[in-house]
Amino acid sequence: SDIYRAGISGTKPAVPVASAALESEARKELSAEAFAYIAGGAGAERTMAANRAAFGRWQVWPRPLRDVSERDLGVDFLGRRRPTPLLLAPLGVMEMAHADADLAVARAAASVGIPYTLSNQASFPMEQVADAAPQGSRLFQLYWSASDDLNRSLLARAEASGCEAIVVTLDTHLLGWRTRDLDLAYLPFTRGMGIAQYTSDPVFQQLVRERASVPKADAAAVKVTPKAVAAALTIARKGAPLTGGGSLRDNLRSPLPRAAVETFLDVFSTPAVTWDDLAKAREWTSLPIILKGIVHPDDAQSALDAGMDGIWISNHGGRQIDQSVPTLAVLPEIAERVAGRVPIVFDSGVRGGADAAIALALGATVVALGRPYAYGLGIAGETGVREVVRNVLAELDITLGLAGLTSVSQLDRDALREV
Ligand code: FNR
Repeated sequence: SDIYRAGISGTKPAVPVASAALESEARKELSAEAFAYIAGGAGAERTMAANRAAFGRWQVWPRPLRDVSERDLGVDFLGRRRPTPLLLAPLGVMEMAHADADLAVARAAASVGIPYTLSNQASFPMEQVADAAPQGSRLFQLYWSASDDLNRSLLARAEASGCEAIVVTLDTHLLGWRTRDLDLAYLPFTRGMGIAQYTSDPVFQQLVRERASVPKADAAAVKVTPKAVAAALTIARKGAPLTGGGSLRDNLRSPLPRAAVETFLDVFSTPAVTWDDLAKAREWTSLPIILKGIVHPDDAQSALDAGMDGIWISNHGGRQIDQSVPTLAVLPEIAERVAGRVPIVFDSGVRGGADAAIALALGATVVALGRPYAYGLGIAGETGVREVVRNVLAELDITLGLAGLTSVSQLDRDALREV
């Protein structure tokens, strides 16, 4: 109702309310590379389209005359009552959208009381993100590294910096065939963006020093920073040797930045990861572990068998396989298999509150938002993210009431009609 009142009083929103308008505004505001990176999907982007189309198979039944004047969006998730069933999905390299990137997103999420999943490829170290929004609820998303020491270190840092859970993303052991990014030469990556979690990590730094044969005594004097790595990448791209150059002279004189790039490529998520590796994660952290990228009921079963604490149904917003299964299509089957034993997070294609209502009715415990909040960030920073989230929540609340329901727990198949 605040949102309606603001509209009536003539206060113009900072970001367009409709999802399509939000995307076209972001296209205008962002650089071509940033927009391509955020908006794009794999191949001919058929999975992206299928994610959206899957919602078209379900309709919400309106049920009037049921006194819905008091409504409650609250849900239980990870041992706590949450005010709403929404959370933010992990999005890497948000410095492409806004200089404040994850700091702005963390503040926005905290201000509306929804959990924020910080990406392994975020632009600020997780400790700095924690400091930016100390009251906020955070989860840390891990890409399983080829280095067990690095995995352990990231998990320990997540725990120490107050994350409530670990989200291990399973669908990116190989980077998808992202056609728009390929056309633009993968600029975010060649600019050394989204590597702050690594460069701020003591294990990563040690691996780099070892590779560069930096003597122990000098270890403290040389730092591996995203800037140094970016400069090394720029020089390497131009084919020049890694020596000398500008304010980063000290770093570039040493073989360190190149070693950092090579180490990063080595330790980034590995295609060799298996269920046995995840069993190690179970021992390394006492935090709940959620597996992200589950789309097959048998994998959901394996996650339960492995003692995991949550399942995150996702196809990475259609960014990994072209013509992959749409997430909403597999949600009912997976929900049936999980049978309430662990929470189910759902994402890929959610663009508004009615979508969220449908996913919740089909068995999701909470729903995660991806691209829309990146667009909000790109257009209006922290305020933009906050408005996008509030709009989704407002539409969810209205949809619930118009369906004759007063709480999220009442949303089930009876609220829907299959087309
Ligand atoms: C992502 N996603 C993602 N997932 C993840 O586990 N770690 C990451 O670093 C990223 N990075 C990332 C960047 C960008 C720009 C996008 C669009 C997506 C996937 C993300 O968490 C989520 O699964 C999807 O974005 C959900 O789909 P929608 O809502 O974007 O359709």
